[in-house]
Amino acid sequence: MAGKKKVTSARIISNKKITSFHRVMKVESSFLAASSRPGQFINIKPAEKGTVPLLRIPLGIHKINKKGISLLYKVVGEGTKILSERKKGERISILGPLGKGFDLDRIEEKVIIVSGGHGIAPLFALSEEVIKKRKDVTFLLGSATKSHITCVKELKKLGAEVKIATDDGSSGKKGLVTCLLPGQIKGKVTIFACGPKPMLRAVSAISKKYKVNAQVSLDEYMACGIGACLGCAVRTKDGYKMVCKDGPVFDSREIEWPPAKMC
Ligand code: FES
Repeated sequence: MAGKKKVTSARIISNKKITSFHRVMKVESSFLAASSRPGQFINIKPAEKGTVPLLRIPLGIHKINKKGISLLYKVVGEGTKILSERKKGERISILGPLGKGFDLDRIEEKVIIVSGGHGIAPLFALSEEVIKKRKDVTFLLGSATKSHITCVKELKKLGAEVKIATDDGSSGKKGLVTCLLPGQIKGKVTIFACGPKPMLRAVSAISKKYKVNAQVSLDEYMACGIGACLGCAVRTKDGYKMVCKDGPVFDSREIEWPPAKMC
């Protein structure tokens, strides 16, 4: 759900490489700790000074700690490269928390969380919150290959059952993560998902077929992050909505999806 947002100058507590592709930046901010909800995101300014890159980078809130938040990111361009070079103790400008997070008010006893690619970033905070509510969590983790997989140990430590699918079969089942989903739907369940659009389309089609509720976190290109530039519009049953302001989390039935391959 959306709440108050502001620009915060947060202190970097750590900025560590956790796999060959992923880094986690932990920042201290009592405001972000108190006001962030699972599924929301922030817009971060990678450099301390200057205008390169011009735009802030949107990052899903990975963990909500007592004193701040953690951000999981991949080094994929100039902005994230600058971010990866920032040091412990420095201050970093963060606008947020932004968008509406997951709706955790009406969820079933069994929860299935589906993650594809970098979808794990906002889904970890969600898993923590859902497990705190004593729900039974099965986490379906999809990835291109074994070396891109992260957070498995931590998810298991939380108490989630983790099932893996990789495109090349190097870990878990070979194939799409959505192929694991139908076998997990027994009775009433709530599904949460974040990942590439074809995966979200498939999750939506499967949840419709099995008549269960699904909330999907969309990952659109974002510029302003606050509903001003109209750059992240998505077609819904009620017309176009902004992923940054009206989402990024939507009930999967709201979105006008093109036909999907389930798995
Ligand atoms: Fe500008 Fe959403 S990113 S309206």
